[in-house]
Amino acid sequence: MATDPPLTFPSLSSLEEAASAKVPPRIWAYIQGGSGDERALEGNREAFRRWRLRPRVLGDVSTVDLGTTLLGTSVHAPFFVAPTAYQGEIHRDGEVGTARAAAGLGILGIYSTLSSASLETIASAAGAGPRWFQLYLQPEFARSRRLVERAEAAGYRAIVVTADVPVLAVRDRQASGGFAIDASLPLGNGPDVTPPPRGPTRDGARYTLRTEAATTWTILDQLREVTRLPLAVKGILTAEDAREAVRHGAQAIVVSNHGGRQLDAARPSLLALPEIVAAVDGKAEVYLDGGVRRGVDVLIALALGARGVGLGRPVLWALAWGGSDGVGRYLSALGTELATSMALSGRRSIAEIDPSLVEPNPPLHIFT
Ligand code: FNR
Ligand code: LAC
Repeated sequence: MATDPPLTFPSLSSLEEAASAKVPPRIWAYIQGGSGDERALEGNREAFRRWRLRPRVLGDVSTVDLGTTLLGTSVHAPFFVAPTAYQGEIHRDGEVGTARAAAGLGILGIYSTLSSASLETIASAAGAGPRWFQLYLQPEFARSRRLVERAEAAGYRAIVVTADVPVLAVRDRQASGGFAIDASLPLGNGPDVTPPPRGPTRDGARYTLRTEAATTWTILDQLREVTRLPLAVKGILTAEDAREAVRHGAQAIVVSNHGGRQLDAARPSLLALPEIVAAVDGKAEVYLDGGVRRGVDVLIALALGARGVGLGRPVLWALAWGGSDGVGRYLSALGTELATSMALSGRRSIAEIDPSLVEPNPPLHIFT
């Protein structure tokens, strides 16, 4: 029998550690692990320390409003639940718990193709709450198309196409922890779904990947023909690719290195953000995920031009800690922290978070 969670929710600084005690090492390796020797994973957090805030004082900050819109969806905060697979392995509440908590707070949830619950079940749990569907392209387009049609029918309001997984990266921590992303893990979305391909097969000097790896930008044109929902592309790290996405009709871009789980040594998403914001030049919404942990991280990303930010691991820590209740408490605590940081920096609304709020944080030795 699982015990009830203690009443006090951990501070945002201690949530990660508190969560680690709640799941078996194999699941912890799945949540935490990155690719290679985890340079991209570490870089995401380091990148936030490269910026610092320029607060304003003595403006009336007696009311602070976190409300905004993401692709026309009204939300109660500019942060959202990033898509993460297999939440049912982490806590019995799984995606249903996450969706109930996020929806209850008016927070956008993006749900993975690789959810443990079906997208329809997640949609019922979210009720009228904002939800988008993350698409992993399937080996045949007909299967991707069916998933998109199901998502549209179930009230998801955008399709987020993940572009940075032509093949799963080598993930040493996951592998040594005994967690493998393969067909043995139960999936809620049924036989239409195949997890992304693992390593290539070799024939002499040639390495062959599965058919999904042949996907090009024209996939966005193909998807445009089968759905009226807005399309977002997740996993972009360069201005060049951001321009391609916009050219092929993407209405939003998620700047992301997949939480350091795909290409190791990839640049931190936060460092890629400014050039992408400049390249997109208002033609699409730009979001960021990777390393967002605190209210001030949200401020930094928004000041650098993100319209919204995604939370991957922190939501999973909260889910591990206390199921749906944990996720709700975490999202509330982050909202409170963001509102507090906005008041402390003289910003009453999301629209007031502008580039003058941040400056580069040079290494301290230059002052000596
Ligand atoms: C992910 N991520 C992810 N992305 C995606 O598009 N589809 C998916 O199914 C998953 N699954 C997944 C599982 C786990 C355990 C993690 C940690 C991440 C990536 C996720 O959406 C997001 O890009 C990163 O997690 C953001 O970085 P942080 O917040 O974890 O630092
Ligand atoms: C992951 C895949 C499933 O990052 O997106 O684990």
